[in-house]
Amino acid sequence: MIKEPYGITVSRDIQDRQRLHPEATGDLSGLLSELIVAAKTISAEVNMAGLGDFLGMAGKTNIQGEKVQKLDDFANSAIKRRMARCGYVSVMASEEEADAIPVVEGYEGKYTLAFDPLDGSSNIDVNVSIGTIFSIHRALNSGSVDSENDLLQAGRKQVAAGYIIYGSSTMLVYTTGEGVHGFTLDPTVGEFYLSHPDLKMPERSKYFSTNEGNSIYWKEEMARCIEYLKKFDKATGRPYSARYIGSLVADFHRNLIVGGIFLYPTDTKSPAKAAGKLRLLYEAAPLAFIAEQAGGRAITDDGRAIMDIAPDSLHQRVPLIIGSKGDVDIAEEFFAGKR
Ligand code: AHG
Ligand code: MN
Ligand code: MN
Repeated sequence: MIKEPYGITVSRDIQDRQRLHPEATGDLSGLLSELIVAAKTISAEVNMAGLGDFLGMAGKTNIQGEKVQKLDDFANSAIKRRMARCGYVSVMASEEEADAIPVVEGYEGKYTLAFDPLDGSSNIDVNVSIGTIFSIHRALNSGSVDSENDLLQAGRKQVAAGYIIYGSSTMLVYTTGEGVHGFTLDPTVGEFYLSHPDLKMPERSKYFSTNEGNSIYWKEEMARCIEYLKKFDKATGRPYSARYIGSLVADFHRNLIVGGIFLYPTDTKSPAKAAGKLRLLYEAAPLAFIAEQAGGRAITDDGRAIMDIAPDSLHQRVPLIIGSKGDVDIAEEFFAGKR
């Protein structure tokens, strides 16, 4: 990569990366560029949601059994509409849709796209950071339409993954397997500029991020791990501070920038959460790709690497422990009963 002063737009960065692969057709670049247009549309609405009729409930429940917020709906439609006719995608999956989403006939492309259109919905109405998460795979038999199998591939096979966080600034963070790169939106010109080149997750941290409101439902290993992080020990920089935003994308982004460990293990609060709360295809796997590319780790609470799990269904839930490598290593020992 040519190291230049800032001012590199995300389109320039995508083209530069494409240039490193002479065999590239430009389809992945085209897909990312179209997705970024959808993200800018969502950012514009999120940033003034209180002014239009975009706050509150859409009056329906999604496949997850969750009440859909108006902005969830808006973001979902913005991405579906744009990507269904972009010509680079053969089939899509969305957190908000029960089944695989076909693209417009004649516009089938060679990639699949899975996305969480708006992550952190409970934070929309209270103006706390939320985001969009995406994961891109190569379709198994290119051009196949509406084939769920093309979507059910392990995270290790992702071609690209990323998120847009609608926070104090709107940032795009993505990887194509060559490091993690962050861009900040200048809303006055509608352009994402490189602001965080080659992001690396600090090896150790001083933050743990988990919903302690679930602690009475945790398995014993989780409770002992959090107790350990809260105990005083100068040599290992403990106690850690607690940071929990309730938007996975925001909790993850903080940990990517300053280090930290996010833990959402299985708990006994409800049968639905026996497998965990977060979804593998469009939450855990894309963030695991980014975490590993930035030197971090992402595992389940029974020691599996998130990236190695092939989904058995579009909305499969998994326990997720993700963040700074040193911290995830410690958590892994607790969950394995070694501490
Ligand atoms: P979504 O808004 O896309 O449904 O995701 C919400 C997720 C994730 O963003 C966050 O980490 C988690 O739900 C928070 O769960 P709790 O409210 O149970 O802590
Ligand atoms: Mn989500
Ligand atoms: Mn969501």
